Amino acid sequence: MQLIQTAHELAEVVAEQKRAGRKIGFVPTMGALHQGHAALVERAKLESDFVVVSIFVNPLQFGAGEDFDKYPRTLDVDARLLSDIGADVLFAPSAAEIYPADGQIKRLSAGELGEVFEGKTRPGHFDGMLTVVNRLFDLVNPDLVFFGAKDAQQVALVRRMLNEQISVGERAPIRLVECETVRDLAGLALSSRNRYLSEHQVGVARTLIAALREAAKFEDRAKALDAGKAALSPEARLDYLELVDADSFEVLESSKGKKARLIIAAYVGDTRLIDNLVIDRTS
Ligand code: PAJ
Repeated sequence: MQLIQTAHELAEVVAEQKRAGRKIGFVPTMGALHQGHAALVERAKLESDFVVVSIFVNPLQFGAGEDFDKYPRTLDVDARLLSDIGADVLFAPSAAEIYPADGQIKRLSAGELGEVFEGKTRPGHFDGMLTVVNRLFDLVNPDLVFFGAKDAQQVALVRRMLNEQISVGERAPIRLVECETVRDLAGLALSSRNRYLSEHQVGVARTLIAALREAAKFEDRAKALDAGKAALSPEARLDYLELVDADSFEVLESSKGKKARLIIAAYVGDTRLIDNLVIDRTS
């Protein structure tokens, strides 16, 4: 595996692979890698010929008072993991490489979908996320990109951005592959932020999936949300639990006949955790 830190070198390596007719698969991350990230890389290896993984803790997508400074940075361990799984390139740029002082970086806006749920509690988060993802797509020039369903609103926004850019010819086609959420044996969605949790808090965090699974037993929104809230540990501070359309994130009164999604965000101590579950009642 090659460790690359500049856009220039990355462009050269990718161009050479493309000349050889290889499909480039890309997995953007912020590092502190776990099995959820590893599953994306494995999938990328199955579906593409040359796999680029990026690690960049993007300041633009963190709000004031969020965990940008304390976000775990474990580049050496991450590099070993990626090399063991067989990634071809680890792209770990500096902030100056992504946001050059003299550069005209295109700032993206996530619009209305960027202002609800995650976007409501984290204003500007999705604008910053789309801005860096767009920049990374420009630098990597991938054929396929791999995202985790755990961050469902992120997937919806990136998919919309790609569809818009591709339809107006602003970008060559890129296929977005959404990969299932990887969980521990008790169902807790793996997250880089889980390492902030004490052993006791892990137990509390595991009640997020319990809440989603209880809520999923009911079609009716009010019943689903009541059941979900009852299953959540009182030690978790709920931000939102909602029943929405799986793709548009519009609130649904019932999941009957729909492809719906239950979404949850809660604080365990100071750590903010999210999860979601698709409930497909279309058949
Ligand atoms: P990060 O939180 O590091 O996640 C990188 C990718 O891993 C995302 O697509 C995320 O959905 C996926 N992922 C995280 N936990 C997962 C799990 N338990 N199962 C499956 N996939 C999982 O998401 C970001 O970074 C950033 O916003 C980024 C897209 C890199 C832009 O900065």
